[in-house]
Amino acid sequence: MTYCVRSAQQRRAEIQARATAMGIDDAFISDLVETFYGRIRAHERLGPIFAKAIDDWNEHLPKMKDFWSSVALNTGRYSGKPVPAHQKLTGVAKEDFSLWLGVFETTVRDLASTPDVVPYFMERAERIAESLKLAMFTLPGLKKSRET
Ligand code: HEM
Repeated sequence: MTYCVRSAQQRRAEIQARATAMGIDDAFISDLVETFYGRIRAHERLGPIFAKAIDDWNEHLPKMKDFWSSVALNTGRYSGKPVPAHQKLTGVAKEDFSLWLGVFETTVRDLASTPDVVPYFMERAERIAESLKLAMFTLPGLKKSRET
Protein backbone atom coordinates (compact mmCIF):
# COMPACT_ATOMS: atom_id res chain seq x y z
CA MET A 1 0.00 0.00 0.00
CA THR A 2 2.75 2.42 1.01
CA TYR A 3 4.50 1.32 -2.19
CA CYS A 4 1.44 2.29 -4.33
CA VAL A 5 1.15 5.75 -2.75
CA ARG A 6 4.83 6.41 -3.28
CA SER A 7 4.74 5.28 -6.86
CA ALA A 8 1.71 7.47 -7.65
CA GLN A 9 3.61 10.44 -6.24
CA GLN A 10 6.69 9.47 -8.19
CA ARG A 11 4.66 9.14 -11.35
CA ARG A 12 3.16 12.60 -10.81
CA ALA A 13 6.61 14.08 -10.21
CA GLU A 14 7.95 12.44 -13.39
CA ILE A 15 5.04 13.70 -15.51
CA GLN A 16 5.43 17.22 -14.11
CA ALA A 17 9.20 17.21 -14.65
CA ARG A 18 8.77 16.08 -18.27
CA ALA A 19 6.07 18.69 -18.92
CA THR A 20 8.02 21.50 -17.21
CA ALA A 21 11.06 20.69 -19.36
CA MET A 22 8.86 21.31 -22.42
CA GLY A 23 7.64 24.65 -21.03
CA ILE A 24 4.23 23.37 -19.89
CA ASP A 25 3.23 24.90 -16.56
CA ASP A 26 0.20 26.65 -15.03
CA ALA A 27 1.00 29.91 -16.84
CA PHE A 28 1.19 28.13 -20.20
CA ILE A 29 -2.10 26.30 -19.55
CA SER A 30 -3.82 29.52 -18.52
CA ASP A 31 -2.65 31.23 -21.71
CA LEU A 32 -3.64 28.21 -23.83
CA VAL A 33 -7.16 28.04 -22.38
CA GLU A 34 -7.76 31.79 -22.67
CA THR A 35 -6.48 31.96 -26.27
CA PHE A 36 -8.24 28.76 -27.36
CA TYR A 37 -11.67 29.79 -26.07
CA GLY A 38 -11.17 33.30 -27.45
CA ARG A 39 -10.79 31.68 -30.88
CA ILE A 40 -13.66 29.23 -30.27
CA ARG A 41 -16.00 32.07 -29.37
CA ALA A 42 -15.09 33.84 -32.61
CA HIS A 43 -15.45 30.64 -34.68
CA GLU A 44 -18.24 30.75 -37.25
CA ARG A 45 -19.59 27.25 -36.57
CA LEU A 46 -18.42 26.46 -32.99
CA GLY A 47 -18.94 29.93 -31.48
CA PRO A 48 -22.76 29.76 -31.47
CA ILE A 49 -22.76 26.20 -30.00
CA PHE A 50 -20.70 27.39 -27.03
CA ALA A 51 -22.65 30.65 -26.71
CA LYS A 52 -25.92 28.70 -26.42
CA ALA A 53 -24.59 26.40 -23.66
CA ILE A 54 -22.36 28.69 -21.57
CA ASP A 55 -23.79 31.61 -19.59
CA ASP A 56 -20.79 32.35 -17.46
CA TRP A 57 -17.36 32.18 -19.06
CA ASN A 58 -15.81 33.23 -15.73
CA GLU A 59 -16.88 29.82 -14.47
CA HIS A 60 -16.00 27.81 -17.57
CA LEU A 61 -12.44 29.10 -18.07
CA PRO A 62 -11.07 28.27 -14.57
CA LYS A 63 -12.72 24.83 -14.87
CA MET A 64 -10.96 24.24 -18.19
CA LYS A 65 -7.64 25.39 -16.70
CA ASP A 66 -8.07 22.82 -13.91
CA PHE A 67 -9.01 20.21 -16.50
CA TRP A 68 -5.88 20.76 -18.62
CA SER A 69 -3.72 21.02 -15.52
CA SER A 70 -5.00 17.57 -14.50
CA VAL A 71 -4.59 16.10 -17.98
CA ALA A 72 -1.20 17.61 -18.86
CA LEU A 73 0.42 17.93 -15.42
CA ASN A 74 -1.44 15.22 -13.48
CA THR A 75 -2.31 17.72 -10.72
CA GLY A 76 -5.72 16.15 -9.99
CA ARG A 77 -7.39 19.58 -9.84
CA TYR A 78 -10.35 18.71 -12.05
CA SER A 79 -13.09 16.50 -10.70
CA GLY A 80 -15.98 17.13 -13.12
CA LYS A 81 -17.82 14.86 -15.51
CA PRO A 82 -17.16 15.74 -19.17
CA VAL A 83 -19.35 12.96 -20.64
CA PRO A 84 -22.77 14.13 -19.32
CA ALA A 85 -21.76 17.77 -19.95
CA HIS A 86 -21.37 16.94 -23.66
CA GLN A 87 -24.26 14.46 -23.95
CA LYS A 88 -26.70 17.20 -23.04
CA LEU A 89 -25.49 19.57 -25.79
CA THR A 90 -27.72 20.10 -28.79
CA GLY A 91 -26.77 20.84 -32.39
CA VAL A 92 -23.30 19.26 -32.24
CA ALA A 93 -22.22 17.02 -35.15
CA LYS A 94 -19.42 14.44 -35.13
CA GLU A 95 -17.51 16.58 -37.65
CA ASP A 96 -17.46 19.50 -35.18
CA PHE A 97 -14.83 17.58 -33.23
CA SER A 98 -12.41 17.89 -36.17
CA LEU A 99 -13.00 21.66 -36.16
CA TRP A 100 -12.46 21.79 -32.36
CA LEU A 101 -9.23 19.78 -32.67
CA GLY A 102 -8.06 21.98 -35.55
CA VAL A 103 -8.46 25.18 -33.51
CA PHE A 104 -6.84 23.51 -30.50
CA GLU A 105 -3.82 22.31 -32.51
CA THR A 106 -3.25 25.73 -34.11
CA THR A 107 -3.46 27.38 -30.69
CA VAL A 108 -1.01 24.95 -29.06
CA ARG A 109 1.35 25.39 -32.02
CA ASP A 110 1.15 29.20 -31.81
CA LEU A 111 1.93 29.26 -28.08
CA ALA A 112 4.34 26.34 -27.63
CA SER A 113 7.96 27.13 -26.87
CA THR A 114 9.19 23.66 -27.94
CA PRO A 115 7.87 21.44 -30.78
CA ASP A 116 7.22 18.48 -28.44
CA VAL A 117 4.37 20.39 -26.80
CA VAL A 118 2.14 19.93 -29.86
CA PRO A 119 2.02 16.09 -29.88
CA TYR A 120 1.93 16.09 -26.07
CA PHE A 121 -1.37 18.01 -26.05
CA MET A 122 -2.78 16.55 -29.26
CA GLU A 123 -2.40 12.91 -28.18
CA ARG A 124 -4.39 13.70 -25.06
CA ALA A 125 -6.99 15.92 -26.77
CA GLU A 126 -7.59 13.34 -29.54
CA ARG A 127 -7.98 10.50 -27.06
CA ILE A 128 -10.56 12.46 -25.03
CA ALA A 129 -12.34 13.64 -28.19
CA GLU A 130 -12.70 9.98 -29.28
CA SER A 131 -14.25 8.99 -25.95
CA LEU A 132 -16.63 11.99 -26.01
CA LYS A 133 -17.70 11.15 -29.59
CA LEU A 134 -18.31 7.54 -28.56
CA ALA A 135 -20.49 8.69 -25.67
CA MET A 136 -22.38 11.27 -27.76
CA PHE A 137 -22.90 9.50 -31.08
CA THR A 138 -22.15 5.77 -30.90
CA LEU A 139 -23.38 4.59 -27.49
CA PRO A 140 -26.86 6.21 -27.71
CA GLY A 141 -27.35 4.47 -31.10
CA LEU A 142 -26.32 1.10 -29.66
CA LYS A 143 -28.69 1.54 -26.74
CA LYS A 144 -31.57 2.36 -29.09
CA SER A 145 -30.88 -0.64 -31.34
CA ARG A 146 -30.92 -2.93 -28.28
CA GLU A 147 -34.28 -1.51 -27.24
CA THR A 148 -36.00 -2.16 -30.58
C1 HEM B 1 -17.15 19.86 -30.98
C2 HEM B 1 -16.52 19.60 -29.86
C3 HEM B 1 -16.91 20.18 -28.52
C4 HEM B 1 -17.93 21.02 -28.18
C5 HEM B 1 -18.97 21.64 -29.08
C6 HEM B 1 -17.82 21.23 -26.74
C7 HEM B 1 -18.67 22.05 -26.02
C8 HEM B 1 -18.64 22.19 -24.66
C9 HEM B 1 -19.56 23.02 -23.91
C10 HEM B 1 -20.66 23.89 -24.49
C11 HEM B 1 -19.26 22.87 -22.60
C12 HEM B 1 -19.96 23.53 -21.40
C13 HEM B 1 -21.06 22.62 -20.90
C14 HEM B 1 -21.77 23.21 -19.68
O1 HEM B 1 -21.14 23.89 -18.87
O2 HEM B 1 -22.96 22.95 -19.52
C15 HEM B 1 -18.13 21.96 -22.53
C16 HEM B 1 -17.53 21.58 -21.36
C17 HEM B 1 -16.37 20.85 -21.31
N1 HEM B 1 -15.63 20.39 -22.37
FE1 HEM B 1 -16.21 20.42 -24.30
N2 HEM B 1 -16.77 20.54 -26.25
C18 HEM B 1 -16.16 19.89 -27.30
C19 HEM B 1 -15.03 19.11 -27.25
C20 HEM B 1 -14.28 18.89 -26.12
C21 HEM B 1 -13.03 18.17 -26.09
C22 HEM B 1 -12.37 17.49 -27.30
C23 HEM B 1 -12.60 18.20 -24.78
C24 HEM B 1 -11.37 17.64 -24.16
C25 HEM B 1 -10.24 17.38 -24.83
C26 HEM B 1 -13.60 18.92 -24.01
C27 HEM B 1 -13.54 19.14 -22.65
C28 HEM B 1 -14.54 19.73 -21.91
C29 HEM B 1 -14.56 19.74 -20.44
C30 HEM B 1 -13.55 19.14 -19.50
C31 HEM B 1 -15.72 20.45 -20.07
C32 HEM B 1 -16.21 20.76 -18.65
C33 HEM B 1 -17.22 19.69 -18.20
C34 HEM B 1 -17.69 19.97 -16.78
O3 HEM B 1 -17.00 19.51 -15.83
O4 HEM B 1 -18.68 20.68 -16.60
N3 HEM B 1 -14.59 19.34 -24.86
N4 HEM B 1 -17.78 21.57 -23.79
